[in-house]
Amino acid sequence: MKSLWYIPVFVISIALFIEVGGVDRTNFKSCDQSSFCRRYRAMKKGESPYQLLLNTVKEGESDLQISLMNIKNAIHFTLKLTALENHNFRLQIDEAQPIKERYKVDFALNGEPPTRKLEVTERTAESITVANGPNKAVLHASPFKIDLYSGKRLAISLNAQGLFKFEHYRQKTNIPAPAEGEEAVEAPQPVDDVESDIGAWEENFKSHHDQKPHGPSAVGMDFSFPNADYAYGIPEHADTLALKNTGTTDPYRLYNLDVFEYELNNPMALYGSIPFLIAHGTEGTAGVLWLNAAETWVDIEGGAHKEGNVVSSIVNFVSGSGTPQPPLEARFVSESGVVDAFLFLGPNPQDVSKHYAEITGVTPLPPLFSLGYHQCRWNYNDEDDVKGVDAGFDTHDIPYDVIWLDIEYTEGKKYFTWDRIKFPHPGDMMKNLSLKGHHMVVIIDPHIKREGGYFVHEDATSNGYYVKNKDGNDYEGWCWPGSSGYLDFFNPVVRDYWASKFSLDNFPGTTLDTHIWNDMNEPSVFNGPEITMPKDCVHHGGWEHRDVHNLYGLTHVMSTYDGLLKRSQGKLRPFILTRSFFVGSQRFASVWTGDNMAEWDHLKASIPMCLSISLAGMPFCGADIGGFFKNPDSELFYRWYQAGAFLPFMRGHAHIDTKRREPWVYDQETTLLVRSAVRKRYELLPYWYTLFRQHETGGLPIMRPIWYNYPKEKATFTIEDEFMLGNELLIHPVTQSGATDVSVYFPGEKDLWYDLDALELFSGHGTKTVQVPKEKIPVYQRGGTIIPKKMRVRRSSALTKDDPYTLQVALNADGLATGSLYIDDGESFDYQNGQFTSLNYFYDGTTMVSKLGDKNGNFVTKSWLERIIVMGIKKAPSRIVLKSPSLGEQELESTFSPNKHLLVIRKPAVPITEEWKIFFH
Ligand SMILES: *[C@@H]1O[C@H](CO)[C@@H](O)[C@H](O)[C@H]1NC(C)=O
Repeated sequence: MKSLWYIPVFVISIALFIEVGGVDRTNFKSCDQSSFCRRYRAMKKGESPYQLLLNTVKEGESDLQISLMNIKNAIHFTLKLTALENHNFRLQIDEAQPIKERYKVDFALNGEPPTRKLEVTERTAESITVANGPNKAVLHASPFKIDLYSGKRLAISLNAQGLFKFEHYRQKTNIPAPAEGEEAVEAPQPVDDVESDIGAWEENFKSHHDQKPHGPSAVGMDFSFPNADYAYGIPEHADTLALKNTGTTDPYRLYNLDVFEYELNNPMALYGSIPFLIAHGTEGTAGVLWLNAAETWVDIEGGAHKEGNVVSSIVNFVSGSGTPQPPLEARFVSESGVVDAFLFLGPNPQDVSKHYAEITGVTPLPPLFSLGYHQCRWNYNDEDDVKGVDAGFDTHDIPYDVIWLDIEYTEGKKYFTWDRIKFPHPGDMMKNLSLKGHHMVVIIDPHIKREGGYFVHEDATSNGYYVKNKDGNDYEGWCWPGSSGYLDFFNPVVRDYWASKFSLDNFPGTTLDTHIWNDMNEPSVFNGPEITMPKDCVHHGGWEHRDVHNLYGLTHVMSTYDGLLKRSQGKLRPFILTRSFFVGSQRFASVWTGDNMAEWDHLKASIPMCLSISLAGMPFCGADIGGFFKNPDSELFYRWYQAGAFLPFMRGHAHIDTKRREPWVYDQETTLLVRSAVRKRYELLPYWYTLFRQHETGGLPIMRPIWYNYPKEKATFTIEDEFMLGNELLIHPVTQSGATDVSVYFPGEKDLWYDLDALELFSGHGTKTVQVPKEKIPVYQRGGTIIPKKMRVRRSSALTKDDPYTLQVALNADGLATGSLYIDDGESFDYQNGQFTSLNYFYDGTTMVSKLGDKNGNFVTKSWLERIIVMGIKKAPSRIVLKSPSLGEQELESTFSPNKHLLVIRKPAVPITEEWKIFFH
């Protein structure tokens, strides 16, 4: 929604900040200002002083445990390597005898990861080899290194660069740093870089002091991918899709922060963190999940990136081109916790996503309404305003599903209350919206106004529900309500308490059609260090905020999800939007890219940002249409709707100081362009819904980089101005001011691409120039696919429930196509008990067949099949005959356009859930 640091009279100051613009970098740490990042970055390659003690091997059913020793100080660690299902591995390293237990990430995984039998296949004096199905791991003792093979191919090496380092917890000592040139040789207490770092035990940032009662405790590991070209993932950053080499910049930072007016093209941290990296090349794909919730920095080096690739430029200079590229390397460093790395060996992008989803969970099928268009603004001021905006959509005949209320609907920023002057009849307002099939989303943030008499604050104070400061008192920060407490969602009692607040009794004015927006959950603290909570605050279980920071938003949405689920006795699917996220947040919420700007570059950036988030397992992603800060001109406005209509989450939103920008406030032409974009979204809702169901069952992203579907096609590896939805659609939104044409890359040696507007073949493989008059959204259907649509224009998705379907068939070079359709009631969990229908379609030139994908589905609907469009057909069939159980044998009418090679079959009129065959004679 918004971000703004604490200014005593911030209401007055907002306008001023809008004018000034641009991130204030001094509010956020660089690597140099973070002592552990500085220490780890100063390490030289090969410095890692660790050795595996192979005589200590303990074999378990699915794991292997070995002692690992730091030979400089004889500190022992326990290394555990586990064989996971799907032939992947998990590596855990912890101190053997810590003076204090170290934090291990909770909540993120979708249960205990399933394991397989681990087999020791070879032992030498120097190494031990273990197999997990066709994949294997070779653990080298000294220097310590682990090589992971996908089949015969070396896919990932750990500590190949010798940058692994694990800072054990220690008592504070006052050993002076060694003098220059002097070596610390004497065991048992050699001096290390920790002792000589003045920031190791406490550090300051601006006016904030970080007391580190437990001292330095960072962990770091390097991962090499010998035959990968690029690394992707580790959101959230406003940067390119293919990660850049960080040799000359700061590392990518993962630390959930509320960054006011974030800048593009840099590795600074943003609202969410998913430490999951995918390395890809023509020979295979691999993934690393670095499961750590503390502040984390990631350095990238090598691979195919030329820029900032120090080694390759030297090599190229010495020996000319044609030299092998340096291995792609990623190095993760976290401030505390343990080493817990999940190593996914692919070999395909789809394998990596699927296996990652099996461990961290998927986004459950969302309610259909949430795939429609969302209209938001900070703020819709009162009930009349809501009524007016709702009526505006009717007047201009634009479909929409949800209207949103930002913080101003509350009484004094006290969540679960209504401003009684502006919203005196919230229940009526809600019912009026429901009558037209509309929904409402209201904001509920995690900060709680510290005001006597406010029930949440009273409960939190008397029951100890707030996060504590380092002295054990309730931590007080400053946020929208002024002085605020922050609920400690790490406590299961607090999660239950929070969940109970969403019941219809406890939150009067809401109905089952009210859904929730969880914002500011990094958490944002206007007067805190880096606009967040101090690291020495203390959570349930005695864990420091330092250990769990990146999990805070996840625990918040988990509790909200539980509340919405319980509100309907587990019957209805919740919809939640979150700003902050971590590994596993996809199980509870959708996400947007936060407070962007009404600038063309921000529109452009929304594609790589959502692609990175999608690759990291969170498919339900969008960006504020129009840009949150500043005012878009009409061209940027309609072009943004056109792009936004093809991102999974579609919401228009704007800052309180911007001009009103409902779809009809510009000129009439703009209104019609926006309307056409929104209508295109609604036509494709059956397809979107099917995609989300496929994600739920298969774990793959919905929005995908081109290389994901074309993993061997090098030219696609850095493309980020176009993307695919599923395997079917290719979208290249217009993101340039004044563009009259765009250059679209069509992948796939043998693939054919059909224009979605003209309904005819547009291109084969290669780059083509596409004319983009104002109304044009370059969208192409891949030959060989069939997509479902609904063509009737309605006021909301709910009103399309019984509408008939259109099937749009695009033939490949062999004249074939397949596709599918998933249908259920769109709102309840009944589909998990058989109340659904899934259908597969096959077209081969002589017949088209509808077949149930799952015989157990028995959803009942009035919907029927209205039309079949076949694109790419060579000549008109003389007769088309339908055979179905309910209609028997019938000849169908059709029209054929010889120039377009387009056949339109009219009114098959079979019930959509039926199996049928159509014969082409
Ligand atoms: C609900 O709709 C009725 C009938 O149009 C109208 O009189 C009433 O003011 C509406 N209530 C709200 C809160 O919008």
